[in-house]
Amino acid sequence: MATHKRSAADPISGSSIYAHIVGWGMAVPDRIMTNEEMSAIVETSDEWIQARTGIKERRIAGERDSTATLGLKAAQRALEVADILPTEVELVIVATSTSENIFPSTASLIQDWLGASNAGAFDMSAACSGFVYAVHMAAQSIRSGSIKTALVVASETMSRVMDWQDRGTCILFGDGAGAVVLQASDVEGGVLSTVLRSDGSGYDLLGIPSVGSLDTCAPIVNPNGHKMYKMHMNGGEVFKFASRVIGESITQALDNVGLRLDEVKLIVPHQANDRIIQSAARALKVEKEIFISNIERYGNTSAASIPIALCEAIEQGRVQPNDYIVFVGFGGGLTWASMVVKWGAPEAEERQAAVLGKQRRQASYTLARWRARLIRFQRRLSNAVTRIRPNEGRVHRLRHKIDQHDLR
Ligand code: UT7
Repeated sequence: MATHKRSAADPISGSSIYAHIVGWGMAVPDRIMTNEEMSAIVETSDEWIQARTGIKERRIAGERDSTATLGLKAAQRALEVADILPTEVELVIVATSTSENIFPSTASLIQDWLGASNAGAFDMSAACSGFVYAVHMAAQSIRSGSIKTALVVASETMSRVMDWQDRGTCILFGDGAGAVVLQASDVEGGVLSTVLRSDGSGYDLLGIPSVGSLDTCAPIVNPNGHKMYKMHMNGGEVFKFASRVIGESITQALDNVGLRLDEVKLIVPHQANDRIIQSAARALKVEKEIFISNIERYGNTSAASIPIALCEAIEQGRVQPNDYIVFVGFGGGLTWASMVVKWGAPEAEERQAAVLGKQRRQASYTLARWRARLIRFQRRLSNAVTRIRPNEGRVHRLRHKIDQHDLR
């Protein structure tokens, strides 16, 4: 690890266990969709999109991409950087608004594909703030001492929930995934402070209606006029909300740990609109350059936008050990969240994944696939046998019942 001071206990949490980000990874689909292509679908133009949002292009999931497959790739890269085995992971959280299923969770799929056989897994629904919420939950689990290692994935296939007739939303969003590994350490730093907020009075400003929003077989349009399973947004209202809360929540998260804004090296905001970032920079009276922005290449990837931007910032050498960095997310709910992290990841040369570790990880992924296939096959086989020999099946079940209740 880089040189850090060790301290007995954090004055805020009272815990002497810290949660550091020790691995990171991202994955985006290969397919690039430009603004020109967008203008063939809805009435818009490259000039309008660039001027109003800063977006030039976005990635669109291909036939073989899904929220889980993109998330898996990002997770595998994060485990590679952390140089840990999937079996060391004790918690998998996936922040997403485009889960593979309502249930089971995308997190359970990724946990299985990785072979993370010692982990619990669940999905987190906090829209574009989801990554910060999920990292907070993971960090708190570590700081409480209940686990040592957690994997947080944020993955989205927004293109599949876009209303491709609505130029107010479809031009904004793209697909992608990012992931981080958090680990316990007695070295002071890591996740230091988080501010999580929600204001459900704005629930109708941004959302994707799903099965629970109606009590009958879903018609295409719900009583509010919103299309089922398609995103709707009041862009102007969300813009005003976002511009207001970014500054407020960053200031609060810094105040919690007695830090000043001029001590912060980098702010990694949710990538929703370049003009929102500019307006937040004005409100905080800082140069826009302190914010990382990559919206021009990916658009808004919802929960995934912060970890994708973080990965690119690290790659560009913009994050160094002992730097204070801030994540800030905002979106549907309405929800928003800020987090202060003292970067404490191992130095680059220490991060080189050991060849042995790499091979064992690959073996874990292959074994995980075969294990799942084998279990499914066994289940089918056992059902088939029961069908072919129903009486034996009945006798077996009866015997099992008798054994269980000790009725003999
Ligand atoms: O990740 C979740 C958080 N989401 C956000 O933070 C999104 C926040 N909102 C926004 O980024 C912006 O509100 C938008 C980019 C969605 C819209 O930009 P705007 O500057 O607020 O535009 P507007 O909705 O006020 O519309 C201005 C004009 C309208 O035309 P009229 O009524 O002035 O004639 C719109 O019909 O621009 C028109 N317009 C478009 N024109 C060309 C709206 N969308 C488009 C478009 N292409 N795609």
